[in-house]
Amino acid sequence: MGDPLSSLCRGEDATRDAGRALGEALEPGALVALEGDLGAGKTVFVRGLAEGLGHDPEAVASPSFVLAVEHPGGRIPLLHVDLYRLAAGAGVDDLGIDEALGRGWVVAVEWGERLPPTLRHAAWRVILGPAAGHGDDARAVTILAPA
Ligand SMILES: Nc1ncnc2c1ncn2[C@@H]1O[C@H](COP(=O)(O)OP(=O)(O)OP(=O)(O)O)[C@@H](O)[C@H]1O
Ligand SMILES: [Mg+2]
Repeated sequence: MGDPLSSLCRGEDATRDAGRALGEALEPGALVALEGDLGAGKTVFVRGLAEGLGHDPEAVASPSFVLAVEHPGGRIPLLHVDLYRLAAGAGVDDLGIDEALGRGWVVAVEWGERLPPTLRHAAWRVILGPAAGHGDDARAVTILAPA
């Protein structure tokens, strides 16, 4: 694994830019696990990621009542998953993650901490958190390549 890439993202646009840069670099079948608290900027990052994959970023919303949203087409199709509402103890097996990866889609998972270890180890990890001393609109964004 390479060194982690950490960025200070001042404002939503900077986080989106970081997502776009990763999206432009990803290859088919890549899994991205987004970690961070409520409001950390996971969905904002996925908007940029989607753009880097050739999708309309505005089509990416917080999946509020569904756990997974498909974005077919683009340079690489995207499955956007949000595990926040996954019932405790429920499996992620039914969300179609393995199938999508097998078809060469990119899969981006919010609350990626909740992925089973096998999937998590295969994932790019994007960790978003507050950037102490830089104000409310700054985020520390760390990207780790798959182990
Ligand atoms: N530097 C920043 N990067 C990302 N978002 C920022 C930044 N500064 C402020 N924000 C704001 O923080 C919020 C991030 O919301 P977002 O929905 O992306 O969070 P989330 O991590 O997906 O939360 P949830 O766990 O509810 O899905 C937005 O309102 C955004 O405008
Ligand atoms: Mg979100």
